[in-house]
Amino acid sequence: MPAKSYWNIQSKTQGDANTVIESLYTYRCKERLARAIESADLSEPLRLLGRGSGRLCYQHPGDQALCIKIPRNARGRNESRREYRYIRLINLLHKESTENRVSRFYGRICTTEGVGWVVEKVLAEDGVSIAPLLHECLTPMAFEQEEENWRRAFQDFMNWCFTTAIVVRDASVNNICVKRLPDGQIRFVLIDGIGPKGSLPQWLPIKRYAHKRNRMHAEVSEFISLENLVSFCEKLRANQQFHRDSLVSVPEEPVYCLASAS
Ligand SMILES: Nc1ncnc2c1ncn2[C@@H]1O[C@H](COP(=O)(O)OP(=O)(O)O)[C@@H](O)[C@H]1O
Ligand SMILES: [Mg+2]
Repeated sequence: MPAKSYWNIQSKTQGDANTVIESLYTYRCKERLARAIESADLSEPLRLLGRGSGRLCYQHPGDQALCIKIPRNARGRNESRREYRYIRLINLLHKESTENRVSRFYGRICTTEGVGWVVEKVLAEDGVSIAPLLHECLTPMAFEQEEENWRRAFQDFMNWCFTTAIVVRDASVNNICVKRLPDGQIRFVLIDGIGPKGSLPQWLPIKRYAHKRNRMHAEVSEFISLENLVSFCEKLRANQQFHRDSLVSVPEEPVYCLASAS
């Protein structure tokens, strides 16, 4: 029977920051999954697309343009909840459209590894696979081959950071996918790392605060200039150990979601 492990871990850590809604959803998921397992109403096994230090990313079984992010630790769970809540608040309070900048959130889904989150998959040019991460594709050669495009994409991203109401907490090169637009241009799309951790700026997102935070981050990070970003990505690729130790484990058993949800 697919993964029971998650539910055991989940019940041990139930006391952490779980909201009431989350607990109710988790409870309902458990029931629905038990019924689905009995009546063989599960999806096909989900295909793994990516790994982070808090979440795994799977292909959505019913839609090529979506993926399912499954938290594997408390950090991943908190991150998903925060991002979802935060982006909805920004859309509501600031009427700001974030569609082209941050992958869209569609809500929760029940999986055999616990609650997953359905999000827009940032697609590569083939319209099927995932777009590459910034550190995977910003090589010195790629930069040389289309410097103008990279400069425009970088400037466009930085300008957005300095005008959006969103706090970009962790604009790291593994939290940005590089999307190729139909006209050949490049766009940086955030897939992770949005929303401040402090309660006040999280629940009361003030634009000026976001601008200040994002500017400060840019000034002390690899995003200080495009040249700096290129060499940062180069160093990262050369570092074999990069990120590897902290990546979450992949379940040994296949992961499923409810077939009715797909
Ligand atoms: N919306 C998305 N579109 C395409 N790939 C994604 C998306 N979200 C996540 N991924 C892939 O999954 C990996 C882990 O996702 P991420 O959200 O960064 O998790 P974590 O919170 O663990 O860092 C990414 O490095 C990327 O390869
Ligand atoms: Mg990440």
